[in-house]
Amino acid sequence: MTDPQDALAQLMSGALAAAFGPDYADADPLIRPSQFADYQSNVALSLAKRLNRPPRDVATELASHLGDSDVAATAEVSGPGFINLTLSDAWIAGQATGQLADAQLDVPGASPVERVVVDYSAPNVAKEMHVGHLRTTVVGDSIVRVLEYLGHHVIRANHIGDWGTQFGMLLEHLLDVGEEAAYQQLAAGEINAFYQAAKAKFDTDPASAERSRRRVVALQAGDPETMRLWQMLVNDTKQYYNAIYAKLGVTLTDADLDPESFYNPVLGSVCDELQANGVAVISDGALCAFPPGFTGRDGSPLPLILRKSDGGYGYATTDMAAIRYRIRDLHVNRIVYVVGSEQAQHFAMVLAVARQAGWLTDEVRAEHAAIGMVTGTDRKRFRTRSGGSVKLTDLIDEAVDRAEEVIKDRYDDPELRTQIAEAVGIGALKYADLSVDRESSYMLDFDRMLALTGNTGPYLQYATARIRSIFRRAQIDPASATGPIWLTGDAERQLALRLLGFGTAVHQVAEAAEPHKLASFLFETASAFTTFYEQCPVLQAPDESVRDSRLALSALTLRVLLAGLDLLGIPVPERM
Ligand code: ARG
Repeated sequence: MTDPQDALAQLMSGALAAAFGPDYADADPLIRPSQFADYQSNVALSLAKRLNRPPRDVATELASHLGDSDVAATAEVSGPGFINLTLSDAWIAGQATGQLADAQLDVPGASPVERVVVDYSAPNVAKEMHVGHLRTTVVGDSIVRVLEYLGHHVIRANHIGDWGTQFGMLLEHLLDVGEEAAYQQLAAGEINAFYQAAKAKFDTDPASAERSRRRVVALQAGDPETMRLWQMLVNDTKQYYNAIYAKLGVTLTDADLDPESFYNPVLGSVCDELQANGVAVISDGALCAFPPGFTGRDGSPLPLILRKSDGGYGYATTDMAAIRYRIRDLHVNRIVYVVGSEQAQHFAMVLAVARQAGWLTDEVRAEHAAIGMVTGTDRKRFRTRSGGSVKLTDLIDEAVDRAEEVIKDRYDDPELRTQIAEAVGIGALKYADLSVDRESSYMLDFDRMLALTGNTGPYLQYATARIRSIFRRAQIDPASATGPIWLTGDAERQLALRLLGFGTAVHQVAEAAEPHKLASFLFETASAFTTFYEQCPVLQAPDESVRDSRLALSALTLRVLLAGLDLLGIPVPERM
C-alpha cells in the first residue's frame, strides 16, 4: 500500500485497537492533510464522548501507540486533541522506490470489478456537434480510460440521436440536393448549412412540408428506399464525427454506437410494461409516468411522456428502453450518463421511473455525471461572432494553429513543428476542459489554455519534456533509473510524497466520475517537480548515489505524469 493517507489510516486503526480494544479498530481515523505536519488525525475528538474521556487524553494515549512504526516518524498531540502525523523519510523513500519498480505504479486494481456503461458524446445526426458535445466527449472518454485502467469492464455507449420526425425534412432535402452532393457537404462538416436549408424549405414551402410528413410515415413504416436514404444520412454524418474523434484521440469507434434507433423495436414493449405495472397512465391521450416529487411551476405533477397522443415515441421513451436494456440484458452494475447539466431533470425523472418500475435497484448505481456549459470570454454560451454554433473542426484547427504560433520559433523542422503543435493544441483544448470541475461552466480562452505556466495542458506536457531532456543529456534510458530513491531535502520529500498519491487520485476519479481530480493531482505533481528541479541538481548532484536517487525520482515523476496524462487522453510530444 503506497498511499500515505491509507498507510496512516491502517496504522491508526492498529493504535485504536491497542488503546481501546478491537471494537475501535474500524473507527474512521479522520486523517486530513495538515499545515503543521504531513497529516493530522481528528479521531480523538470524535471518540471522546464514546470513551467518556477528554479528547486530549484520548489523543495522548493513541499517540503513545503510534511511536514505533516505520510509517510515522512522529505523532504529536496538539490543541484540543489533534494528532499531528509526520511520515518518516525512510518510509516515503522506500515506497517511492517500490512504486518505481512496480509495473502498475502501485495502483491497486478495482475490487469488485464492475460492468459499467458510460453514455457519452452522443451527437445528433445531421446536426453540428457543438462545444457541449466536445465536453461530454472529452470528459466521458477520460472516465472510460480511468475505469478500464482500474480493471472495470466498460461498455462505451455513444447514444447518437439518429431518429425523430426531423428526418422527414432531412431526407427530402437529401433527395433535392442529390446523394453525392449531400455526402460531400456532410463529410466536410457543413452540417449546419445542410440542416438549415432543409428546415428553411420545410418552414416556408407547404409542398415540401407535406413531402416531409409523408417521408416520416414511410420512415416509421420501414419503407426500404427511405431506410436506405436514412442510413446514408447517418453514415455521412458519422464520417464527420469519426474524423473529429480521430483528431482528438477519443477512443470511440463505430462499435460503440448505441443509437436511439436501436431501441425502436422495443419501445412498444417498454410502454406496455410500464402501463401494466401501473407506473405509467394515460393522461390527455398520452401515456405518461408521473414520478413522485417532480412538479411543474404551478405545483402539478410533471409527466415523463412515453407515448404522445398521436402514438409517437420520444427521447424519454428511448432512454427508458435503454436503461431497461442495459440493466436487464447487459447486466451492468453502474451507468454513468455524461450529458449536459441542462438535462438534469430529464435524467432524474428517467432514473426515478426506472426505479418505480423495479428495473433500477440498489444493486445498480446510475448517475448523471452532469456537464456544465462552455462559455466565450464574454461568459455567455460559446458562439461564433455572428451568433451561430461553432464548428468543432474549426475550433480544433484554431487550437492547433495558435499552438504553432506559440512554439514556432523553437523548431526548424516543419514536420516536427506540426507534430508538436498538434499535440500541444489538442492537449491544451482537452486539458482546459478536463481540469475544471465538470459541473462548472468554463470559459474557452485560447490564450489561457495555451499558456506554458499555470494549470494547463502545455505546462504538464512541458514538465514531461523537461524530464526527458535530463535523460537525453545523461544518455540514460529512464527505464533503467531504478534508484534506490532517498531523500536529502524538502523538495525531494514533497515530490516523493505527492507521487505516492497517484493511485488514490485515480480511484477518486473512478468513484466520482470526475477527471478534474486527476488533473489537479498532475498539476500539483508537476509543480512539485518544478521546485525539485530548481533546488536539486540532478546531473550535477554532489555524489553518485544522490544523482541516482534524483534520476530515479525524475523517472518516477515522468512515469506518473505520462500515465496520468494518458488517462486524461492528453497527447504528449517527446520534446517541446
Ligand atoms: N443526443 C443527445 C443530445 O445531443 C444526448 C444524448 C445523451 N444520452 C442519453 N442517453 N440521453 O442532447
